[in-house]
Amino acid sequence: MSATPDAMPHGSEAVAIAAERRWAIIVCAIVAVLIAMMVATGVHWAAMPPSRVETIDVKSVHVQGEFVESNLGTTMARDGKVTVRLIAQQYSFVPQCIVVPAEMPVTFRGTSTDAIHGFMVGRTNANTMLIPGFVSTFTMTFRKSGEQLMPCHEYCGTGHEAMWARVQVLPPQEFLAKVRAGERLSCVPR
Ligand code: CUA
Repeated sequence: MSATPDAMPHGSEAVAIAAERRWAIIVCAIVAVLIAMMVATGVHWAAMPPSRVETIDVKSVHVQGEFVESNLGTTMARDGKVTVRLIAQQYSFVPQCIVVPAEMPVTFRGTSTDAIHGFMVGRTNANTMLIPGFVSTFTMTFRKSGEQLMPCHEYCGTGHEAMWARVQVLPPQEFLAKVRAGERLSCVPR
């Protein structure tokens, strides 16, 4: 094969066509795999109902049941389970300042009274949407103590960017010294 490329135009063209065909087959295979993945995951999720859906009557949230104002904030049950109950509304969270222990599982339960809101807590993976008519809940453990900001992360109207709360993560001993079974705790100045 000492011939110059000019001497064998046909041979190099055949090589180029073969290479292009190979790449076309590989790209088609990649596209086919991606489409198959989309179809498989789409069908899988469509076939699986959410694990639990908890609804609540928006009109009576403020006046009766779990989310009346006197029941919001942090509580510790007699069995040691810590629960935070909160409400989101245009444009604030109630309570404005939430106390939680570090290194202990904390269950958040929240709902909205008007638009769709949401929150995340600082750089932790505490993150949920709050939807009118539904109770959002998740359980997590804060690794580090300290104060975290808790902004609303769903656009909910003109006051959205001013809607946020604070979360005080206390060392477990400090939290346990403050909380008494059955009482609501928050760090909102009175
Ligand atoms: Cu509430 Cu954005």
